[in-house]
Amino acid sequence: MQEFLIQGGRPFSGSVEVHGAKNSVLPILAASLLSGGMCRIHNCPRLRDVETSAEILTRLGCAVRREDDALLVDATTLTRSDIPDALMRKMRSSVIFLGAILARCGQAEMSFPGGCELGSRPIDLHLAALGALGADIRESGGCLHCAATHLAGTEIHLSFPSVGATENIMLAACAAEGVTVIENAAREPEIVDLQDFLVAIGADVRGAGGSTVAIRGGKPLHGCDYRVRADRIVAATYLAAAAAAGGEVEICGTDYRRISTVTSILAEAGCNIRSTGDCVLLRRTGRLAAVRPVRTAPYPGFPTDAQAPIMAALCTARGTTVFVENIFESRYRHVAELRRMGADIRVEGKVAVVSGVERLSGASVRADDLRGGAALLIAAFGAEGESHVTGLSHIDRGYDAPEAAFSRLGADIVRRDVP
Ligand code: EPZ
Repeated sequence: MQEFLIQGGRPFSGSVEVHGAKNSVLPILAASLLSGGMCRIHNCPRLRDVETSAEILTRLGCAVRREDDALLVDATTLTRSDIPDALMRKMRSSVIFLGAILARCGQAEMSFPGGCELGSRPIDLHLAALGALGADIRESGGCLHCAATHLAGTEIHLSFPSVGATENIMLAACAAEGVTVIENAAREPEIVDLQDFLVAIGADVRGAGGSTVAIRGGKPLHGCDYRVRADRIVAATYLAAAAAAGGEVEICGTDYRRISTVTSILAEAGCNIRSTGDCVLLRRTGRLAAVRPVRTAPYPGFPTDAQAPIMAALCTARGTTVFVENIFESRYRHVAELRRMGADIRVEGKVAVVSGVERLSGASVRADDLRGGAALLIAAFGAEGESHVTGLSHIDRGYDAPEAAFSRLGADIVRRDVP
């Protein structure tokens, strides 16, 4: 087993480049199946979820190899259209492959992606939309059997702007005859990244970033070279860490405007934030102050993935901050571990009330999910004394070499094996 050993209480000072976005590269890897050729995906982060996606692509018959910062996917020949249960369980967002496999193979089989630490994670919107496009989807024994001899474009109105459902529809619609229009589509920047990749392989997709996305299917598709955008949630995590530790940092490679809901909260808490080109500069000297209620919402609202990191930073703010988690049903699993470090947090359903304490103390804590794990690192950086953080497999799903990145910002953090 591994742990992060962290000596807290040291102000940050340093600069770091944000790596490619996990939540862009995962749907883009699924989309590469549609190309039928060679896709070179640059700025591809080294993450466990990317490794799992590469395993899925390889099992489907693609050739996948790493070339410096890029992942090369040769999707010329597919030999299968099913994803085994073991791989589905490694990464529940593998459901994003459903639309792509259906579009390319006319059939798909995968186990029902189970829930995860964030809740039940239903996929009813995905299945209803693929059905509307003409897919015949049957579930038996926890397995999804899907057939789509003919996909036809149609208008689909999502009752909730689901990121994954929007992506699955975009991918399946590339093989549908005619035009598919998604109303109430997710507006996250990762949807725009996916659209730009699809256009790069020859698809006709428009409107991503807004609530209406239109796809004209049936275009001949091909390989491409594509560069994935920076991970806005990783940028938010680095900023929250600097807010917790104090000091001054420069976070580069991200578009400041895509994390404005996060930077405005940190500014309200007392951080001095400004942007220069594609870098964000953050300085925090005095004690943080509590902020107005933080309510998570679909983009462009406050991102649910930044809830835990920002909560960790505000545990020592002067005053009380209320969080309302509106996206996932169980996204406060990091609270119990933060309490072990001395945080004063009370949870009632969707609401968490954080009463700021003077100081957190280092402790042995365990990550139970990706962003909750990042929150524990953030709390440890600002805490007095030594912390041991385990459960690194969760953190490694979404952060590429986090110990190297945080060390560049001035943190005292080492990864080591423990018996
Ligand atoms: C994506 O998950 C991200 N994952 C999540 O990031 C992110 O938190 C989430 O979008 C919201 O921004 C990837 O992109 C790989 P949703 P996704 O479909 O697609 C409900 C991280 O930490 N829902 O927008 O699963 C669902 O239960 C991860 O990087 C249905 O009810 O998110 C949830 O409550 C965590 N039925 C809400 O919608 C459906 O068919 C948001 O889900 C689909 C979703």
